[in-house]
Parts: sequence; structure tokens; C-alpha cells
Amino acid sequence: MEEKNKTIAIACDHAGYELKNEVIKYLAENQYNIKDYGTNSAESVDYPDMVHPLGKDINAGTYELGIVICGTGNGVQMTVNKYPNVRCALCWIPEIAALARQHNNANILAMPARFISKEVALEIVKTFLNTDFEGGRHQRRVEKINKIL
Ligand code: RB5
Repeated sequence: MEEKNKTIAIACDHAGYELKNEVIKYLAENQYNIKDYGTNSAESVDYPDMVHPLGKDINAGTYELGIVICGTGNGVQMTVNKYPNVRCALCWIPEIAALARQHNNANILAMPARFISKEVALEIVKTFLNTDFEGGRHQRRVEKINKIL
């Protein structure tokens, strides 16, 4: 269920900077509040510097949902998934974003700025923010994710 006026945490590196601006515009137009962790230019940066603070805040429950963007989506995803309460899903089509929420209760969306259009990215964001976790058998599976051997 869509909950407007919720704060969405967002971060990117230089490769994701342009798309982050588009996502922020979409979020603002749709009455979301935004916590922006940068980066704030196209100048080359190291993605962990931007996304560690976001991962820490999602992990602590300060914000419920986040969005991270880099060239492939993988560097940002790998970084935030180090936090035990983070479930970050790399999504390149809206269907994956829907399933990431429905089945995995993903709380951070990762997107590959260099491989998707702005239009697809905004559809992914919309889907991610408007899809609920299904619970049930998926709850049991999600609870097992942190039970490393
Ligand atoms: C930056 O060139 C690129 O490596 C970064 O955006 C990301 O794709 C890393 O995973």
C-alpha cells in the first residue's frame, strides 16, 4: 500500500547522479519526503562513502525504505547488504521490483543507471514503493536469510 509523506532515503555515486536527480524529482512530485545522502555531482567518487551512511540508517530503522544507484547497481547493493537488517534488491525491470517486495520484503532498491532508461527506472521506483510484502511462507524464508552457516 502506498504511504505518501513517507521519507525515502536515497544515495548514488557519480554514475547514478543523473538518475538520482530524476528519481528525486519523481518522489517530490509524488509527495514523498527525501533524505539525500549524495553524491551531488558527476565527479568521480567511491560509492561506499555515500551508501554506508544510508545502509546504517535503514539498518537502525531511521528510514523504512531506500534507493541506491550506481553504474551497475552491484557496488551499492553489495555495500548496503552488509547491514543485517538491510535487504537490498538489484532491479532492472518493474517485475523484479514487485517480487523483491512481495517475496523478499526488500527495504532498499538498487538500480543500474548505465543499463536502464529513465522511464524504466521511474516505473521500477513506483512499483517498489507501491508493492507490499506478502508474508506467509516468504516471512519464514526472509527470516532464514541472516542465518549464515
Ligand atoms: C563506476 O565507474 C562504477 O564502477 C560504479 O558506478 C558501479 O557500477 C560499481 O559497482
